[in-house]
Amino acid sequence: MKALELAEFGIDKLRTVTLDDPQPEAGQVLVKFKAASVNYRDFMIAEGMFAPVEDLPVIPLSDGAGEVVAIGEAVSELQVGDRVTPLFFPRWLSGDALGDERSVSTGLEAPGCLREYGVFDESAVVKVPGHLSAEEGACFPCAGLTAWSALATNPDQSSKGVVLVLGTGGVSIFALQFAKAMGATVIVTSSSDEKLAHARELGADHGINYQSTPEWGPAAKKLTDGRGVDLVVEIGGTSTLPQSFKAIRRGGHIAIIGALGGAQMDLSVYELIMTNAHLHGIGVGNRTGHEAMMSFVDQNRISPVIHQTYSFADAAAAMRDIAKGGHFGKLCIRF
Ligand SMILES: NC(=O)c1ccc[n+]([C@@H]2O[C@H](COP(=O)([O-])OP(=O)(O)OC[C@H]3O[C@@H](n4cnc5c(N)ncnc54)[C@H](OP(=O)(O)O)[C@@H]3O)[C@@H](O)[C@H]2O)c1
Repeated sequence: MKALELAEFGIDKLRTVTLDDPQPEAGQVLVKFKAASVNYRDFMIAEGMFAPVEDLPVIPLSDGAGEVVAIGEAVSELQVGDRVTPLFFPRWLSGDALGDERSVSTGLEAPGCLREYGVFDESAVVKVPGHLSAEEGACFPCAGLTAWSALATNPDQSSKGVVLVLGTGGVSIFALQFAKAMGATVIVTSSSDEKLAHARELGADHGINYQSTPEWGPAAKKLTDGRGVDLVVEIGGTSTLPQSFKAIRRGGHIAIIGALGGAQMDLSVYELIMTNAHLHGIGVGNRTGHEAMMSFVDQNRISPVIHQTYSFADAAAAMRDIAKGGHFGKLCIRF
């Protein structure tokens, strides 16, 4: 089978290789990939910025979708023809991952989706709802599940209140779609008025341009009549967290997801004391969450927003473009 592989860091180093066709063993399924999607993490891994990546070569991309084309013995839940996505963490099936459940992730320690075929334990893939194309299904394992975990794993009801979504990338647009389907009022920030208009078409109640309104935290709070937002979907880190504290309501919930604007910062404990805010670190999610998300997506007929689809041969362009930030939603690859 053909695969795209990185034997050294740098997206330009992505090379086509021919590997042995994999065969499923007992309890495993053989998946023929039809599509993949790109996350910011994939760009970081390829460029050697995702610490510490030592075990090259790697087949990139955590997110893909395909069809089961063969099954091993003792496979009970899946059959040939089922459309599936791999889990981001193939060993993290449920619970809090207190052991080594997160030591293997797709597209890093385990081969990613830029290949024609993959063999997976039956428990490491989840069925794709029928209304989704392969490209749409390929958007969920990392970006979708991360947004889902930010909204659905809260102990409180903040995802039904006012949700502040930062930026308009893959995770954030899923968060917008999920939060609206959960009944939330959603405020979106973006560097682009055009993207904010697009977010409103998708159901966003308010938009704030974080470049023309650098004090977007107080601006978001003002939109809640001074009460503050219930939940922030935090993807910026250093550059955004100070404003997120200005936006949050007392006792609100900040889902810490990404660090597009830096990871290190001075943080006064008084920010937490004065706001009573709950900071919740998110690490994608487990199989239980993935299944719950897919069921929610099915019930609510949610389809991911795909900005652009590339060919398999052009996968490197998709991986480069994610870092340019021009997209709204997801960048996909069709095989
Ligand atoms: N913890 C986890 O489990 C997890 C899982 C997935 C992703 N992540 C992280 O979450 C972040 C987003 O991932 P993604 O795949 O959704 O990325 P993405 O699709 O590349 O999103 C990029 C968008 O974020 C916005 N943005 C960029 N820099 C910003 C800044 N300094 N302040 C505010 N907004 C900014 C921009 O939106 P506009 O163009 O609208 O301005 C940009 O288009 C990344 O850091 C990624 O590594 C973490």
